[in-house]
Amino acid sequence: MSNRLLDKRILITGAAQGIGLAIAKAFAREGASLFLIDRDEALLHEEAAKLKGEGYQVGARSADITDAKAIVAAVAEAETEIGRINALVNNAGVNVFSEPLETSDEEWNRCFDINLKGAWNCSKAVLPGLIEQGGGVILNIASTHAFTIIPHTFPYPLAKHALLGMTKSLGLEYAPKNVRVNALAPGYVATQKVIDYWNSFPDPEAAKAETMKLHPGGRIATPEEIAMAAVFMISDECPFMNATCLTVDGGLSVQQHPA
Ligand SMILES: NC(=O)c1ccc[n+]([C@@H]2O[C@H](COP(=O)([O-])OP(=O)(O)OC[C@H]3O[C@@H](n4cnc5c(N)ncnc54)[C@H](O)[C@@H]3O)[C@@H](O)[C@H]2O)c1
Repeated sequence: MSNRLLDKRILITGAAQGIGLAIAKAFAREGASLFLIDRDEALLHEEAAKLKGEGYQVGARSADITDAKAIVAAVAEAETEIGRINALVNNAGVNVFSEPLETSDEEWNRCFDINLKGAWNCSKAVLPGLIEQGGGVILNIASTHAFTIIPHTFPYPLAKHALLGMTKSLGLEYAPKNVRVNALAPGYVATQKVIDYWNSFPDPEAAKAETMKLHPGGRIATPEEIAMAAVFMISDECPFMNATCLTVDGGLSVQQHPA
């Protein structure tokens, strides 16, 4: 622990598991105060209690990021519990993978409501406070799907492309107010979401082996490897990094095809 996030009061969405939880743990170790949001109430409170038990300053509230009113209420509660929020990690997201012509309106709406509008709901709820305080940071967890396409994963990549657009738009809009807005683009990360993806194939072990083979290093990322990049991006170590995207994918997205 080196207190790289001392004085940061950070709201993290989708923090009950996976990348969001790894980010919460890494941020706590770096001295941040945290307020965690997730729609999985039981898991969220279990994980928040563990962190509190380790002596970290952590508040939590179950909320769905698609519910703008619930998010405004959560931000108000966060401010009472840990003080004024000065950073936000928009991490909550879901895979909605289909073939374009087979995608239902319900799937389309769920994809955009969570992966794009949810991030906007949270950004909108904290931005006035960041501006009033003279600055702050928003970090959007995008994906390599924000700039590349895998067939049959429609419309998830569209929402992640748009999230990258929102990152650039808000980053430019609020740069004069000292608010930095960036995106972090992981490739495959070992979370339940990816395990579920492998399990959707008739032979999950073969699907897993296929994924590993795609990567130049022969493996996918751990959630902790994504969290380490997030620490840097939220910290004051990169004050001129704004409206951009940091890719953390082991080289996956720049290779033309595996050797
Ligand atoms: N795992 C990967 O390979 C990978 C790769 C690139 C990007 N990402 C992105 O990283 C983020 C986290 O992914 P993960 O793999 O850790 O996922 P995960 O499924 O392990 O965890 C996501 C968490 O978000 C919560 N959540 C989902 N919808 C919500 C909502 N509407 N309101 C509140 N909470 C909600 C879930 O309850 C869950 O706890 C997502 O935005 C995802 O798109 C993941």
